[in-house]
Amino acid sequence: MTSSPTRQSIAALLAEARERTLALIRPLGDELLNKVYSELLSPLAWDLGHIANFEELWLVQTIGGRAPLHGDLGQYYDAIENPRRERGELPILHDAELQAYMSEVRERTLEVLEEVELGPAVEDPLLREGFVYEMLVAHELQHQETMLQLLQMLDAPYRPAEAEPGRFVPDPIESPGGTVRIEAGRYEIGAPERGFAYDNERPRHTVALASFEIDRTPVTNASYIEFMGETGAEPPMYWERQGQGWASSAMGVTTPVDPMRPVVHVSWHEADAYARWAGKRLPTEFEWEAASPRLEGVGGAWEWTSSDFRAYPGFQVFPYEEYSKVFFGDEYKVLRGSSWATHPHVARPSFRNWDLPQRRQIFAGLRLAEDAS
Ligand SMILES: [Fe+2]
Repeated sequence: MTSSPTRQSIAALLAEARERTLALIRPLGDELLNKVYSELLSPLAWDLGHIANFEELWLVQTIGGRAPLHGDLGQYYDAIENPRRERGELPILHDAELQAYMSEVRERTLEVLEEVELGPAVEDPLLREGFVYEMLVAHELQHQETMLQLLQMLDAPYRPAEAEPGRFVPDPIESPGGTVRIEAGRYEIGAPERGFAYDNERPRHTVALASFEIDRTPVTNASYIEFMGETGAEPPMYWERQGQGWASSAMGVTTPVDPMRPVVHVSWHEADAYARWAGKRLPTEFEWEAASPRLEGVGGAWEWTSSDFRAYPGFQVFPYEEYSKVFFGDEYKVLRGSSWATHPHVARPSFRNWDLPQRRQIFAGLRLAEDAS
């Protein structure tokens, strides 16, 4: 967003994000919201309370100077203090109390929004051009993707009233194949100074790249099945045998795997093995970003890169260490692009997602690259 957000545009974004959160959980009862499906994911009730608590912390307490509604309840919604595998045991809010907390926080948020000054000249960097509000909207939209990861694990069919066929899978790739050549040179990497972005996307800086070729489209299920057949590699998460072929059992529904869609739910190790089998390699995150205006099929699945999640030169924490800084190092791999579950408002070419190389519950696939001759 290049023009400064206004009170009205912020209120509209907050409302739209919340409506989408509530639409996701509408088909589920309280029992499913409280159920623990996996050590890797929180029960949905935790995500919901955390979304509201994060909003209260930043938009009501920090910006509005108000006291918390539930004393020190916030400690149970701290994502760093409470690992996902323990979140099912925490004394968090449930059911009607949880719903009430979400709406009470929102009421206070809108009250505070009426009091604040926004715009490019405001001194407080949290409020300047509405940064903290953009951050909160992005946070809620990104948690929806995490919630959709958990919804993949439902035993009974997930049936939202407004579901359209194909809404919960990546779009098929029209004509897979072909590569794009990127010439050696210096490329601008990272988010521009203005507009919302996370601290890890800044500062924008120049990176020298050797010439390379990158696939126009991501790896499809058809190609991945060929790889599995030749190497005996494990199928992606949620796949099972169906006759001679494969089916996916995500979201409590078994459907045949569509060969033309990008492969999803593979780990970094599997993506890397695939690339080596194909005689190519994963792109670096800088190669991906430099090539991004010319890539096709972006937005179906996150794309693993060969890069570790590291700080850009001159990185400055903003507004808190636990968003990016604590994850920098060689433990996490960067993913670029976005998935079918990512809201378009939070998808941008400079966005850096990251996860552990063994993870498969995220909506991740891959695209191949190679050095240009
Ligand atoms: Fe969060």
